Amino acid sequence: MILRAGSSANLRLACALASFGSVSLARHNGMSDFLAELDALTADAQQAFAAAQTPDAWEAARVEFLGAKSGRLKDVQKGLGSVPKEEKPAAGKRFNEVKQLIQEASETAKARIDAAQASQKSEPVFDPTLPGRPLRVGRLHPITQTIEELKDIMGRLGFSVADGPEIEDERHNFEALNIPLDHPARDPLENFYLSAAAAATGRKDAPMLLRSQTSTVQIRVMECTPPPVRIIALGRVYRPDEVDRTHYPMFHQMEGLLVDRHVTMADLKSVLRLFASSYLGRDVHIRFRPSFFPFTEPSVECDYYWNNKWTEFGGAGMVDPNVLQAVGYDPEEVTGFAFGLGIERLCMRRHHITDIREFYRNDVRFLHQF
Ligand code: DAH
Repeated sequence: MILRAGSSANLRLACALASFGSVSLARHNGMSDFLAELDALTADAQQAFAAAQTPDAWEAARVEFLGAKSGRLKDVQKGLGSVPKEEKPAAGKRFNEVKQLIQEASETAKARIDAAQASQKSEPVFDPTLPGRPLRVGRLHPITQTIEELKDIMGRLGFSVADGPEIEDERHNFEALNIPLDHPARDPLENFYLSAAAAATGRKDAPMLLRSQTSTVQIRVMECTPPPVRIIALGRVYRPDEVDRTHYPMFHQMEGLLVDRHVTMADLKSVLRLFASSYLGRDVHIRFRPSFFPFTEPSVECDYYWNNKWTEFGGAGMVDPNVLQAVGYDPEEVTGFAFGLGIERLCMRRHHITDIREFYRNDVRFLHQF
């Protein structure tokens, strides 16, 4: 409406209209402004929360829109006062909806930022300029390394490697080795007899045991090989010994056997001396002490000199004629020598290890030194 000044009637009308209009406009503006502000606030808040990429940005948006003291939602709420009474319920309802929408936008953004942070923590950023991490390469157990070295040394002395089972019968562990039934070495308390293994053979009268010495392999080789033989056998043996720094119920031995015409004790000593100087060092001295083993005659204990004292490294001797006979060899035709050395002892001497238990603790701090 165009109001023209100059006429009092017009002026009155204008005043009346103005006063009417002002009431109507105020009413109209109060509600629609309030709704418009709510819409603008919703759009701004949703945009701000969607754009927030970091916890700080999210917190800034939260304070701006939902802050308890001076947040924009709180500000807009004040406008509720200028909404006419009859429209207040609708305005209040809309306000609550908007509040809910903004809170939802805030929660969604928070969850998104938290998830991104968590995944960033578990997946560190790949930096191609960093030096690579060194790989820990596995290595052979010191006893396995020693076995390989012993095979190598003895191989150069002409001995080939033979093998035999760890579960043995009494013939190979004792009888053929000239160890009679009443010998203390056959005491069940000195051996690991295996009742289940005996039962599996179906013969209760044929006890089986974990071999207590690698001398068993001498018998197995000679039983199926005509002389000459020149072998070593390396492997595990078992005895129910009390565990201490020099004893363990399972340990390793290297057995040696050479049978041929005219083999003498001098050959035995040469081989053991060559072996000792190859493995322990050129300047090592060895000596023989008289001893007794049922399967050798004569028998000796062999020592090497180390740390100003003599240390035993195994038993040896000339193969007893009874043993040669037990495998069908003719003791008038051939003679032989045999020896049996403890592998742990040799390895301990070489690496200055003082406790045999270290080998079997499986502690990588010990094992990775070799
Ligand atoms: N078998 C013996 C032991 O375990 C070691 C041994 C001694 C082996 C003399 C031999 C030998 O071949 O001739 O104690």
